[in-house]
Amino acid sequence: MAIPKTITSKLPGKPSYSTGKGSMYQGNSLEYLHAMPDNSVDLVVTSPPFALVRKKDYGNQSAQEYVTWFVKFAVEVHRVLKDKGSFVIDIGGSWKKGSPVRSTYHYQLLIELTRPGLFELAQDFFWYSPSKLPSPAEWVTVRKIRCKDAINPIWWLSKTPYPKASNERISMEYSQAMRDLLKNGYKAKKRPSGHDISTKFANDRGGAIPPNLLVVSHTSSNDYYQRRCREVGIPVHPARFPPDIPHFFIAMLTDPGDVVVDIFGGSNVTGWVCEHFGRNWLTFDLEADYVRGSRFRFETECPPPTLEFIGPSEATQFRPIKVKEGPEKLTTGRTRQKKAAKKVTTNKQSKRAKRTKSKE
Ligand SMILES: C[S@@+](CC[C@H](N)C(=O)[O-])C[C@H]1O[C@@H](n2cnc3c(N)ncnc32)[C@H](O)[C@@H]1O
Repeated sequence: MAIPKTITSKLPGKPSYSTGKGSMYQGNSLEYLHAMPDNSVDLVVTSPPFALVRKKDYGNQSAQEYVTWFVKFAVEVHRVLKDKGSFVIDIGGSWKKGSPVRSTYHYQLLIELTRPGLFELAQDFFWYSPSKLPSPAEWVTVRKIRCKDAINPIWWLSKTPYPKASNERISMEYSQAMRDLLKNGYKAKKRPSGHDISTKFANDRGGAIPPNLLVVSHTSSNDYYQRRCREVGIPVHPARFPPDIPHFFIAMLTDPGDVVVDIFGGSNVTGWVCEHFGRNWLTFDLEADYVRGSRFRFETECPPPTLEFIGPSEATQFRPIKVKEGPEKLTTGRTRQKKAAKKVTTNKQSKRAKRTKSKE
C-alpha cells in the first residue's frame, strides 16, 4: 500500500524520488505541511537542526528565536496529525557560547509545545550514545570540570493523553537474571521498598518492557549510504539518525500501513526504516545534496537497516564510578587551565634551549 493520494495531491512540485511506500521532497517542510490535509498522519518523527542555536549567541534571545521558529512547524504538525497520532522530537542540548553552562532552549521549547491547546508530553525519553566522543573539549578534556555530553532528550508529544501506542511491540530480550527466574520460579514477597511483587512477576511475557533510556551507538562510518556518497562526491549527512531511534518509535506508535512523516528528513533514515518495516512515509529536506544522497538508501544493493537497540542493563556494562576522596580541591577549571598553559610554555622553552645547545 502506498501513501494515500489525498495526502500528497496538494504538495507543491514533484517529489525528488518515490518508492513503493513513500516520497522525499526537497524544500522547506513548512510549505509542505501547509499543503497537507488535517488529521491525516499517524506519526511525525524528526530531529530538527540544532545548529540554528549553535551558530548564534547561546543567550536567551536566540533560544527564544529558536522556539518561535520551531513552533510554526509544531502548529502545522498538530493540525496534520490524527487525534491518536504522536510527534517525536530528538533534540540535542547545547552549551552557552564560551561558558561551561547549558542552554535551556530545548526545555523552553518543550514548555511552549505543551501549553494548553497544543501537545501533551506523553513521555520524555533519553538517548544515550556510548560511542560519543568527549565534548565540549574545553570543559571536558582540557579543564576537566564537566562530564562528557552523551545524552539527547527525545520528547514524545501527543494530541491527547492516550495516543496509539504499545510497549509490547518493542520489548527487549530478558536479562540472564530474569531468564533464570523464569526457569527456576519465583516466591512472591514484599520488597524492602514495600513493593508487593506478586507471582505474576514470573509470567513469561516474551520480553522485558524497555525503559525510557535508549542505549544506541552512533552509526558506522562506512555503510552503503556513505560509500555511495563518497563515490559520487556528495557530502555525507553529518547528523544522521541511527536507524534504531526512528525504528523504536515507529514500532511502538504505528501499525503497518500507517503514515509516518519526517519534516527534517536529512539522509532519510526515517523513510528507509519505514520502507523496510511496512509503513508509508513522507520526508522533506531543504538541502539538495542531502536529498540526492538519501536516494542511495533505496538502491537494490543497499542492505536493510541493522538494528541494535539495547536496554541499559543488558549489553552495556556500566562500570562503577570510583569516588576519589582526598585533599585535592575542586576547581572552577581556571587554575587547571593556567597550569596547562604554563606547562606548554615551559615545554616550548626547554625545547628552544635544547635546540640552542645542540647548535653550540
Ligand atoms: C539534524 S538533521 C536531520 C538528520 C536526519 N534525521 C537523518 O537521519 O539524516 C536536520 C535537517 O533539517 C534540514 N532542514 C533545516 N531546515 C529545514 C526546513 N525548513 N525544511 C526542511 N528541512 C530543513 C537540514 O537540511 C538538515 O538536513
